[in-house]
Parts: sequence; C-alpha cells; structure tokens
Amino acid sequence: MKQQELELILKEYQTPAYVFDLDALTRRVQRISACLKKSGIDLCYAMKANPFLTGALEPLVERFEVCSPGEFRICEKEGLPMERLVISGVNKERKDIFRMIEENQGRGIFTVESMQHFRLLSECAREAKVKLKLLVRITSGNQFGVDYELARQIFREQDLYPELSLQGIQYYSGTQKKKLSVLEKELQMLDAFCREVQEELGVAVSELEYGPGLFVPYFQSEQEEHLEELLEELTALIGRMDFAGKITLEMGRFLAAECGSYLTRIVDRKENGGQIYGIVDGGIHQLNYFGQTMAMKLPFVQHISCEHKAAQECAPAKGEEKWNLCGSLCTTADVIVKQYPLTDGKVGDVLVFERTGAYSVTEGISLFLSRDLPKVLFYSQKEGIRLVRDKIETDSINSAVAEGFAV
Ligand SMILES: Cc1ncc(COP(=O)(O)O)c(C=O)c1O
Repeated sequence: MKQQELELILKEYQTPAYVFDLDALTRRVQRISACLKKSGIDLCYAMKANPFLTGALEPLVERFEVCSPGEFRICEKEGLPMERLVISGVNKERKDIFRMIEENQGRGIFTVESMQHFRLLSECAREAKVKLKLLVRITSGNQFGVDYELARQIFREQDLYPELSLQGIQYYSGTQKKKLSVLEKELQMLDAFCREVQEELGVAVSELEYGPGLFVPYFQSEQEEHLEELLEELTALIGRMDFAGKITLEMGRFLAAECGSYLTRIVDRKENGGQIYGIVDGGIHQLNYFGQTMAMKLPFVQHISCEHKAAQECAPAKGEEKWNLCGSLCTTADVIVKQYPLTDGKVGDVLVFERTGAYSVTEGISLFLSRDLPKVLFYSQKEGIRLVRDKIETDSINSAVAEGFAV
C-alpha cells in the first residue's frame, strides 16, 4: 500500500492492525484468472489462507475450499451459494455434514478423506434423499486423503452407492513450491491415475481439483515472481495431460498474500551488548512468514516515521542502524527480524510488514500471552478505510473465570 494511504489509516486507527487492500486483491486475482481462463481452468480460493477475504473474492473465483464448520458458517454469512463450495478437510462430523447436505438439498461438492468418511457421506446423502457430488482426495503421504489403492476401490465400488456421484479427485501436497518440476511430476501422476481409472475400471473422472501450492516471495533475498510467465508454464504442463475434464486450481497464499499489510509500532528501543533491540506492539503471534527461520531473512517493510510522545523521552537514532525487531510476547522466540536496516528509526514509528495477506491473520499463536487480537481493516479506493473487526481482548478466552461460568 502507498505511504499516503497508510498514514491516513494511522491517523484513525491504533496499531497493531491488519489492512487488506481489496483493490490490490482484485487486480491480482483478475490477472491470475485471466491466465487460467485461456486454458479453461477455474480458480478455487482455499479460504483458510484468509477467511476475511472470502466475500471480496466472491465475484473473482469460481469456488471456495471450506475445511471446517466455522469456515462454512463464514460462507453462509457472506451469502455464498452452496454450489460454489468444496467441503474439504478431515473430521467431518455427522451433524455438520448432515445439516450442510439437508439444508442445501445435496448441492456443493464434498471431498472424501477416508473410508469412514465415505460411508458417512453416503449415510447422510441417503437420509437426506439427495445425490451428493464427491471428490476423492488422494494423499500426498500424510494424514490427508486416501492412498491410490483405496481411491481405486472407491471408484470401483461406486455403483454400490447410487446416492453418491464421484466427480473426480482432489490433490494438494504442500505450499511454497518453487520448482515447476515438482508440479510437473504431480500432474503426471494424477494424469496417470485418472487414465487408469477410466481405462481399467471404466469409470469417468470428470474433475481434477489441484492445489499447486505456488510460491510467494516474502523476503528481499528471494527472486521476485513473474506471474504471467509462471502461470503460462503451469498451464502448459496442464495442457500436456491426457485428462480432458474440468480442472480447478485451489489456491490460498498465491491469491491473498500480496494484498495484506501488518502495521505495528515501535514502542521501545534499547541497546543490549551492542545490539539494538526495537520492541514493537505486535509480534510473531500475529505475523507469519513461511520460511522465516531464526528471523534471519529480511521481509519487505515500509517504515513510517511518526511523532510520538515516547519518542521525545528517547533520543532519536540517526542514520542507518541494524535493528533486531522483537514483539511483545514474553519469549525469546518473539523476534520478527534480526538486523533490519532502519534509517532514523525511533520509538513511535510504524513498521508496515508487507505481503501479509495470507495466513498471518489466523495462523499465528495469537492467544499466547493474552494480548488483544488486532483490528482488521479493509481498504479500497471506492470505499476508503473500513473497520471489519475491532480489536478483541483475549483474557476472557484464556481465563478460568470466564464470563458466564460460576467461580
Ligand atoms: C487442500 C488444500 N488446498 C489448497 C491449499 C492452499 O495452499 P496454498 O496457500 O499453498 O495455496 C491448502 C493449504 O493448506 C490445502 O490444504
């Protein structure tokens, strides 16, 4: 985001805060979608990356991947139609699944994560008297999905389950993948499986829902992306597959990361053993850069110089200095970045950590130390700045003397 807009936000709102630039989100997703559309590929937003963006993405993607009852309720609140949801993830509980199926007359698509899961979906579909669309999730060697053998069995026995309609497969093997060769191998493997199911079992596989886990450069040392080139290469790989059905790419980070900024203020500065430490009012519980080991890599940060009461008591630093930027948690682990070069950094200044639109808002250990959950703001040129979640105190969540419970 531009400094001017950030300064406007800081006039009205305190830190720490997340700001999601909806114009930037729209621009990025439209660029991605335009590349995919040329090859007839659809886009699915894995909403776990940032559930706040779900409504804003409604006009921009075809589908939403939903992995918990809570995520489902967010979709309901946003008014998303069931037919655009892929209900994915492990531990689908009967009561939740049945409600989703019954209230929506079997619309939407559900992933199969195990044999028990498959039977549960079958029972719920029968009880609700609907035909349910399924994708069999193929495991990538972990607790998710089923292995090829079980997937084959499910496809082979599908006639025994007339209430279920197997549409195809889902596959996701991890995030921040840099090498296209990894994606190529996965696509070849999935292609071979679909071919085998069609040729040997005589069962049509009409859909492939694939999460490529595309890489987002978070640090200054990483190569900047060339979005169109990257997607051209990916769609070329997909184009080489025999599979002729519908392909949907499930993406989280690649869509959401760029539009997010995390604003945190320097609240203290000290020198310990010749090292400069800047304490900020946020921390690692609210900021999540994938691959930030030992806080050694430099993320993209805007430095906004601010006049602040505390700054007058603390001599302002001059010139460029290397700061160890630490958060407000009581743990030595709360180091956001070591040796960050700040010019004339001082108490009261605000640091804007960029590319924080994916996973930071939800994946951090945000309840640790009972600090407040930050505000969430939306920005767009048309609507300006909009507070979509105020700060939330967490002491009642973390306390045995919570409201409504007798002591
Ligand atoms: C099944 C599935 N699809 C898609 C994604 C999104 O991954 P990414 O954020 O790397 O795009 C995830 C993330 O965990 C996932 O579990």
